[in-house]
Amino acid sequence: MNPFNPDLLAARLTRGRETCRRAGLDALLVTSLPNIRYLTGFEGTAARLLLTADALFLITDGRYREAVAARQASPEACPGLRLHLVEQGYDEATAELAGRRPGAIGIEADHLTVTAWQLLSAALAPGGCRLVPTAGLIEGLRVLKDSEEIAVLREAAARLSAVAVGVMAELRAGLQERQVAHQIEAGLWRMGFSKPAFDTIVASGPSSALPHARAGDRLLAAGDLVVLDFGGFYSGYAVDLTRTVCIGEPSSERRRLFEAVRDAQAAAIAAVQPGRLLSEVDGAARAVLADRGLAAAFVHGTGHGLGLEVHEAPRVGPERLTRPTGADLAQPAPPRIVAPGMVFTIEPGAYVPGLGGVRIEDDVLVTTDGCDVLTTVDRDLRVC
Ligand code: GLY
Ligand code: MN
Ligand code: MN
Repeated sequence: MNPFNPDLLAARLTRGRETCRRAGLDALLVTSLPNIRYLTGFEGTAARLLLTADALFLITDGRYREAVAARQASPEACPGLRLHLVEQGYDEATAELAGRRPGAIGIEADHLTVTAWQLLSAALAPGGCRLVPTAGLIEGLRVLKDSEEIAVLREAAARLSAVAVGVMAELRAGLQERQVAHQIEAGLWRMGFSKPAFDTIVASGPSSALPHARAGDRLLAAGDLVVLDFGGFYSGYAVDLTRTVCIGEPSSERRRLFEAVRDAQAAAIAAVQPGRLLSEVDGAARAVLADRGLAAAFVHGTGHGLGLEVHEAPRVGPERLTRPTGADLAQPAPPRIVAPGMVFTIEPGAYVPGLGGVRIEDDVLVTTDGCDVLTTVDRDLRVC
């Protein structure tokens, strides 16, 4: 299980170069660390990558020199990768390297600061380099997972499910939200995750009606709905899970709220079929909630892609009828169609101030005839 083995990296670099060629670029300056990781396997926290038709330079600083050198000498090497060490600063090193190659150099507009863009433009213009703003070129390649990425995500989802089962077995009235978050995060470490994927959410009682409440001081109390939403990075890849439980028996209204979201999630999972629009998956969840009078209570999209980032393409939400205009970017159209190899969350929710909130989230892998649900925790209401 190695999603950064040399054969996979070589295939990704070929696709990256083809994408650049189609966008009319002579080179692409990659500044998103997840994109750099995807193309090279580099795991450090500071780097840039210059990808050209026939070269690949990793620009990084002295902190990573030994790690890169060791990797270059290993069987896990990234094909063709050359190290370009930063001596003064990243912008100077980038300008020096890029300045040797006149032409159109793509920059990642979502990931390069305006300051760096201005400095590089000024430094490179005299040598005949033109910076071309791009968006989503490498992110677009990451949407369909390869077999090693799928193996890692499958394993990660199984481990995250085990964390959820362990924590839910211990829930009871009187525990503080923060204490529960601590138990979740301890479970993540124990199960081999390298870090949480985001700030763990434990939202009880009134806070459950806030979709992104943090874990606070409140003590879990009888009758509460409690939203537990957490994720972790495992071997570089993020998985994400939400369950909503009740402390003691729920009121009939809260049970109805739970059942509406559970049914909405089941409808969305059933709608995950290759060839359908991602917006139809979202629509399937939305229709169930609308039918139960909860249309306005579902205030977010149905899901998001998972991979080297916890939120990445594709977006599972309503079709965007208008595309933002005004930015002059070389960018591929966002994915609209469900396709085998996509991994995304299905996480409808309903939030009713004064009553509480429910969200249920699973991670699915699109297959040739539907989807595999990678997270395996029971989806019926758990009364703790
Ligand atoms: N709380 C982050 C998510 O579920 O997407
Ligand atoms: Mn989540
Ligand atoms: Mn999520």
